[in-house]
Amino acid sequence: DLESSADDARPGNIAAAREQARHCKACPLWEPATQTVFGEGPDDAPVIFVGEQPGDQEDLAGQPFVGPAGKVFDEALAAAGIDRRQAYVTNAVKHFKFVPRGKRRIHQKPNMGEIRACRWWLDLERELVKPKLIVALGATAAQAVLGKAVTIRDTRSRLIDLDDATKLLVTVHPSYILRLPDKAAQARESEAFDADMAMVLDFLP
Ligand code: URA
Repeated sequence: DLESSADDARPGNIAAAREQARHCKACPLWEPATQTVFGEGPDDAPVIFVGEQPGDQEDLAGQPFVGPAGKVFDEALAAAGIDRRQAYVTNAVKHFKFVPRGKRRIHQKPNMGEIRACRWWLDLERELVKPKLIVALGATAAQAVLGKAVTIRDTRSRLIDLDDATKLLVTVHPSYILRLPDKAAQARESEAFDADMAMVLDFLP
């Protein structure tokens, strides 16, 4: 079983976890991906942001949220007056999942097995960083944090108590805003996303 075999050498700090995750083969996504994209930020950050999984640019850079979704994320943080460097930013799944189409690589949603396999790393990040707040960006992240499928509609914009006494805030994934067809809907959703980000301020010094 993946979880117990990985547990044999449970890393004691984020640097060791990142190094060990470079070699992770707990699901098949490691093989076509360029590299593991582990979480980034202070290892004692009060807030952890959890995305879905790295995209094309993140896969190449080895850093979370540096592509188009990262730009929306950065803008929302800036609008709320949050310095991204105060937070630990990671993903539910740490390898890019894609299908090649010509020269492009098209993002694929991670499945339950992949989310489950990678949850070992997310749980470890939570345990080591010990945040006061976890922000789930989208349903996949919320599912990974809660260990069960939930809808954005039922969980969004309120502080949910987690078992380990941290709070969870669920909001949309920044890519959702990018994909909205018309400008009015984008503006409306951006505003709602900014309001969720403003809730995070209470957890920062
Ligand atoms: N989307 C995510 O969920 N995470 C990233 O790191 C980039 C895009």
